[in-house]
Amino acid sequence: MNRRSFFRRTLAGSAGLTLAGTPWWEAAAQLVNTPVLRDIRGVGLDDPELVELSINENPLGSSRRAIEAVASRMFGMNRYPFHNQIEQALATHHDIPEETILTGVGSSEILSLLVTASYFDRAGNTVTASPSYPDVPRKTEALGREVRRVPLTNDFSLDLDAMLDAIDSETRIVFVCNPNNPTGQLLAADELRRFAERVPSDVVLCVDEAYIHFVDDPDYPSAIALAQERENVLVTRTFSKAYGLGGIRVGYGIASPELVQQLARFGFGQLNKNTLSIAAALGALEDPEHVTRSVEVVREGKQYLYDQLEALGYEPLRTQTIFVTVDVGDTLETFLSLLRERKVKVRQAFEMDGYMRVSVGLPPENEVFVDEFRKVAGR
Ligand SMILES: Cc1ncc(COP(=O)(O)O)c(C=O)c1O
Repeated sequence: MNRRSFFRRTLAGSAGLTLAGTPWWEAAAQLVNTPVLRDIRGVGLDDPELVELSINENPLGSSRRAIEAVASRMFGMNRYPFHNQIEQALATHHDIPEETILTGVGSSEILSLLVTASYFDRAGNTVTASPSYPDVPRKTEALGREVRRVPLTNDFSLDLDAMLDAIDSETRIVFVCNPNNPTGQLLAADELRRFAERVPSDVVLCVDEAYIHFVDDPDYPSAIALAQERENVLVTRTFSKAYGLGGIRVGYGIASPELVQQLARFGFGQLNKNTLSIAAALGALEDPEHVTRSVEVVREGKQYLYDQLEALGYEPLRTQTIFVTVDVGDTLETFLSLLRERKVKVRQAFEMDGYMRVSVGLPPENEVFVDEFRKVAGR
């Protein structure tokens, strides 16, 4: 369906629905103000008009297997999840020992445990790229510890040499988001390996692989192999992105059994799980086709966004994630609020001045974003 026929259809459809019984002046206002009449219906959103592209959710929703698994467990909500089925399933999935896996309430919990375990009884600093995913640095600062932010290179890559230089005897954590949020850039695997070899063994190297499924090269190696070889490497993974389970809150870390134990001391143990989230994650793991489909939808959506933004004279970064990042200049704030008024939610690419981050949606959502973006940009 092309954009014009999509708009014609949604305008006609929702006008028919909305205008009946409406005072004429409101009806007239609605007719001229077409964005308010749109019926986009992104999966899982309560507001049928909202185009939610600000928090990197899977536009396809969850796997049917996950939904069925939740439905089949819903009469068991009285039962505590005192079992390790998800750890066992993940161990099989990655072909690694179960004691190298720590599950969390999203990968956010693992990142949080890392910071707590690193700083609860000592000072120190965290080294991170900037801009990058801000969770670990924010939590470090919340505990009153120092953060060393190392700027990216001119081509938006992580500057691994400069990050190594920033490490000193007080460094506890080096945080590497790969592919990076909000730039979407991926490190060369051999560069990351060389970096890991040079990070001192008493510093935890955390590699956040939240977006690893969206990497272009299907043979790109995960850092999980590094985490199996080196006692100080922690890899974080999530069910929130490619598996479409952001709302169900399951993530995990992979590290040496010693590091897993150190982090686990500060968690809730098995009580950080819930019966339904574990069911969903187990269901999702059994449905690799959903991940493949999600990756495909995101790839096509990104290509559409690149083409449209370029046609409008912008230069979006080519990303290996679930979002597109584009420089819109110093009117970014106005851009964001005008889009928000038009029910399109996107955000600033963290601390990147002038850069907008747009999560990929379903094709109609992407089309509405482009249409409203064009109007706001006046092009
Ligand atoms: C790079 C990165 N890491 C971690 C997370 C946290 O995800 P969750 O706690 O849902 O696993 C996100 C969420 O957007 C992210 O972008």
